[in-house]
Amino acid sequence: MRDAAPTTIYLQDYKPFGWIIDDVHLTFRLHPTATRVISRIRFRPDYDVTDRPFFLHGEDLKHISAKVDGHDIELRHVDGGIEADVPHAPFNWEAEVEINPEANTALEGLYRSNSMYCTQCEAEGFRKITWYPDRPDVMAQFTVRIESTAEHTPVMLSNGNGLFYQQDQTQPGAPNVSIYQDPWPKPAYLFALVAGDLVAHEDRFATMSGKDVSLAIWVRPGDEHKCAFGMEALKKSMKWDEDVYGREYDLDEFNIVAVDDFNMGAMENKGLNIFNSSCVLASPETSTDGNFERIEAIIAHEYFHNWTGNRITCRDWFQLCLKEGLTVYRDQQFTADMRSAPVARISNVLALRARQFPEDQGPLSHPVRPESFQEINNFYTATVYEKGAEVIGMLKTLVGDANYSKALDLYFERHDGDAATIEDWLQVFEDATGRDLGQFKRWYSQSGTPKVTVSEAWSEDGTLTLTFRQETAPTPGQEQKEPQVIPVNVGLLNPNGDEVMETRTLELTEAEQSFSFSGHSARPVPSILRGFSAPVILEQNMDNARRAFLLAHDTDPFNRWEAGRMLSRDALMSAIIDGAAINSDYLDGLKAVLRDDTLDPAYRALMLGQPTQSELAGLLHQAGHTPDPSRIHTASEAMRDAKATALADLLPTLYHDNQVSGTFSPEAEPAGKRALANAALALISRGDGGTLAAEQYDQADNMTQQLAALSCLLDAGTGAQQLAAFENQWSQDRLVMDKWFSLQIIHANPEDVVETTRRLTHHMDFDWKNPNRFRAVMGALQMHHAGFHHEGGDAYELLADWLIRLDPVNPQTTARMCTAFQTWRRYDAPRQEMISAQLDRIAAQEGLSGDASEMISRIRG
Ligand code: ARG
Ligand code: ZN
Repeated sequence: MRDAAPTTIYLQDYKPFGWIIDDVHLTFRLHPTATRVISRIRFRPDYDVTDRPFFLHGEDLKHISAKVDGHDIELRHVDGGIEADVPHAPFNWEAEVEINPEANTALEGLYRSNSMYCTQCEAEGFRKITWYPDRPDVMAQFTVRIESTAEHTPVMLSNGNGLFYQQDQTQPGAPNVSIYQDPWPKPAYLFALVAGDLVAHEDRFATMSGKDVSLAIWVRPGDEHKCAFGMEALKKSMKWDEDVYGREYDLDEFNIVAVDDFNMGAMENKGLNIFNSSCVLASPETSTDGNFERIEAIIAHEYFHNWTGNRITCRDWFQLCLKEGLTVYRDQQFTADMRSAPVARISNVLALRARQFPEDQGPLSHPVRPESFQEINNFYTATVYEKGAEVIGMLKTLVGDANYSKALDLYFERHDGDAATIEDWLQVFEDATGRDLGQFKRWYSQSGTPKVTVSEAWSEDGTLTLTFRQETAPTPGQEQKEPQVIPVNVGLLNPNGDEVMETRTLELTEAEQSFSFSGHSARPVPSILRGFSAPVILEQNMDNARRAFLLAHDTDPFNRWEAGRMLSRDALMSAIIDGAAINSDYLDGLKAVLRDDTLDPAYRALMLGQPTQSELAGLLHQAGHTPDPSRIHTASEAMRDAKATALADLLPTLYHDNQVSGTFSPEAEPAGKRALANAALALISRGDGGTLAAEQYDQADNMTQQLAALSCLLDAGTGAQQLAAFENQWSQDRLVMDKWFSLQIIHANPEDVVETTRRLTHHMDFDWKNPNRFRAVMGALQMHHAGFHHEGGDAYELLADWLIRLDPVNPQTTARMCTAFQTWRRYDAPRQEMISAQLDRIAAQEGLSGDASEMISRIRG
């Protein structure tokens, strides 16, 4: 447990370390509870910085010895590490510490997962391994020797290239030894070590300059059959980064390891990526199309970090978006290229609205580049990642594709080997394009979601004028907002639905601004914010007829989808607020789109979707209403019924025409068909009591079909037998069992959610120390809007109980899950009081982690 007094760190206080490291030699003598780490480091003074003591980070280390130039040295233990008096000249540091991987349940530093050793060092985990300047601006070359005598660890990996490996089983007690050397200087957060009984799925890749790279995905014996898809994704990523960004891989080997206990998705350690097994293992029987797509994106993401993150890293953690925003942007481009670009864009916007908008509009709102933090792990957020990526997308829209490429080339050329800042990043764009990005930079410092209101005026001389107003509500710590540079992509359609002006980018820079389009014989219909060209809330006064027109005719696939989305949103809002029936404009328009076989099935499947209940709660709150979770739930169900009825004739056709036969392929095209067929099945099941779904369940030979059918059966209340069969079939597969846990909660009636959750926490496989399993259950509880917010507040209490229990074991995952409460101010007074009581109860826990206490105090506001 941490000490209670949290310290706040500020961007403006940045100071360099004061020493330079030439190289680092580490020796690990592995032992489950007493691993020895010996470090030999060559330091030399940074003669520009002479005003500070020699400080090394260190946490939970049992100190054995420290020497400078061969002589024992006295260490002063200070907050978070040690200080020592060292020569003002180059010197050799040698230290030995002991650590306990088995006791490391926080999964930060060196820990054990299913008896294998692995590490997670980003952001500040290396300090739990040895004394070190654990900050990203200190980069060094590492050589790592791993020794193991205590157990069977035939595979021992670290970063870089393997130099030496010896496994001596002829002499009892002789250690396994392996030595790795990473020629590329790197910060400590990119360090990794893995050791255990692992098997490899191997392959090779020839780079653009003809270098041969050995690739391997390492898994526990028994998971070998789940590696092929990940390997293909890796090779595609390597090729794509060469083709699109001109970036080549730079080591002889590239290793990926799957780990069952992992706080996040995956980690880009140099040459040795470590993945949550849920983000790399895949097979048709056990993974859904959604899993395949996500795995492909995450493998790409981590691989792309090799250039955007590793070769060019961050000066300090305030610059996190420098690597994460850019790398998310790159993985989104990759997915758009591998699959359907419009479908990818819509999916990204859905995710942004679901995860980033609530964050940006609530108490946790922070800039893409935060200016202060207590626990950096709390800033691996949708804002840094997803809004960070949107900012890069806007930059590209503003400067154009060719200039974007030019700027990126300059970025790689100028900053390779650097620990860089957002200022460096923007400077590259200014130098490459001659553009002043002073105002654009506000996207990095100003938090909150800008609201853009547009109005139209038509004059009979043939001119359409669009007037935009932008405004951002105050956010924590930022009362006043300045206008931002907002690229708004606009196209014009004539009343027949033909495009009369192709998409062009309007640049909003002022609080209010008008743009005119002349020479039109009839009043055109504008299509505004095409492709969702900026992460803003667009307010546009538009009647249903106009939205239906865009739904039928917009040539921009995003805005066409958006028109349908707005129709369904408005219908839901009036159903919630006034009890209105679902309007026919929407249902008629939807029917026409679904009938159109020229449209991609994946796109039509998205068209069948509707805003989530949590999204509706946010919209109601914004519109000045207090959301009532039960009314929102009822209206959402009514919307589904209305669609089932209105589309009754069409649904069986959609279902049958989109069946995919033959060997399962996770590619976009068959996956899109399954998505559409399963969306149809969900509506059909509302009327047939689950007959068709039961048939599909029985015939399913892949997880996509099996899980979709089971979901429908649970919704219809007729899935008990299949649920038991599913458990029986998959009890040995953790990743599938995570689905089994989640599914029951997600598909429970609101009044049964708490009871179902509670029952599952008593299940013998509810291994709550495993983050995936904890999230499968507690994440599902908070995602069930009407269940989580069900009157009485039992769900709040249940979640708080479990957060309190998890915190001493795993503060990082606890802190992350506290976000379930971030929207509490939306709700009525009784709910606010109940949530507030739970927040108080968590805050009052003795020894509460710094991670959780920062989150709770920010959420309380
Ligand atoms: N850099 C990783 C990624 O996005 C995320 C690791 C974050 N881990 C953490 N404990 N904060 O690819
Ligand atoms: Zn990342």
